[in-house]
Amino acid sequence: MRIGIIGAGQLGQMLGFAARDLGMQCRFVDPAPKPPAAVCGPVIQEAFDNADALARLAASSDVVTYEFENVPVDALLKIAERVPVYPPPVALGHAQDRLAEKQLFQRLAIPLPEYHRVDTFDDLELAANRLGFPLVLKTRRLGYDGKGQFVIRRPAELGIAWHECGGADLIAEQWVNFDYEVSAIGARNVSGDIICYPLTRNAHAAGILQTSIAPLQNEVLTRRAEKYVTTLLRHLDYVGVLALELFVRGEQLLANEFAPRVHNSGHWSIEGAEPSQFTAHLLAISGQALPEPRLMAHAGMLNLIGKIPENLQLPSAATLHDYGKAPRPGRKLGHITVLGDSAAARDTLLAQLCETVMHSTPQ
Ligand SMILES: Nc1ncnc2c1ncn2[C@@H]1O[C@H](COP(=O)(O)OP(=O)(O)O)[C@@H](O)[C@H]1O
Ligand SMILES: [Mg+2]
Repeated sequence: MRIGIIGAGQLGQMLGFAARDLGMQCRFVDPAPKPPAAVCGPVIQEAFDNADALARLAASSDVVTYEFENVPVDALLKIAERVPVYPPPVALGHAQDRLAEKQLFQRLAIPLPEYHRVDTFDDLELAANRLGFPLVLKTRRLGYDGKGQFVIRRPAELGIAWHECGGADLIAEQWVNFDYEVSAIGARNVSGDIICYPLTRNAHAAGILQTSIAPLQNEVLTRRAEKYVTTLLRHLDYVGVLALELFVRGEQLLANEFAPRVHNSGHWSIEGAEPSQFTAHLLAISGQALPEPRLMAHAGMLNLIGKIPENLQLPSAATLHDYGKAPRPGRKLGHITVLGDSAAARDTLLAQLCETVMHSTPQ
């Protein structure tokens, strides 16, 4: 089975390693020289919207997928005429536009924070009146890792936020005073079978994921999140892995956004579950059965951002993943997974790890 992957970053690399274990071949499209996934297969070094490069990828693949969300939907639809493209481009279309994404949550009765469409400065003032302060102004498209967002704390900041966010195609959201954040990862295969991973609890700093732990031990929230993910997967006639990010406030779950791809908050599953999210994605898109995920332990993950400390002394319960990327402030360069026999053991290991990495990595 030949898998064509648009994007050759770390997600492509981890898909590539999982593909190798399944005896599949991968080929990628990515404009970067020597991207992380180059160690897993040939890379067509062209822009993500280069029609010729995508046609070449399609011609040499049995199925095409993507690990990068800013591929033009039209370009995917074009190659979908020749070869199956999963997840379905229509799902990507919703995820690329925060407004369409929120409207989809509403249509599917998935609870979400209050929001307001903002096309003009008047809209922004109206949104502030309705939502109150603080509120978050976000670009509808192309935001990631907290980029393209501005938290507005008082009326005087409306003007700066408006300019910072580009003054068009925006969305204002109520600021959610959440207790914590979770993500629900699920997968659906070509025959429509669905699996769900246990709920993962995530901590972000400055909009970037720092740590994830799984399984979250809360049956009520887990079942409810599974219901939302299943609803999305069925509605979108989805094939592949999907991650839904949610805020937890008391007993409430509020949907923030979804990613039509393997997700950073599911990296723990490489060591912590069988199959991992990467294997599950490949099984799903290649028309194979999806086994129920079996948990190997209580897992924790720490992202390595900006710099990977040298001479890290890791306990045997920890695994380092170095994506082979050049260091740059704010850039995700790798992650470390820890496994514990109990949630408490995992929490202790993760806390020690954070301490070690923080001391050796001036951020
Ligand atoms: N409305 C909000 N209320 C509170 N925190 C928010 C809100 N929107 C975003 N955040 C914080 O910023 C992070 C990144 O925002 P998100 O909407 O997920 O964008 P991105 O595409 O950058 O991941 C969230 O995980 C959360 O920690
Ligand atoms: Mg997010």
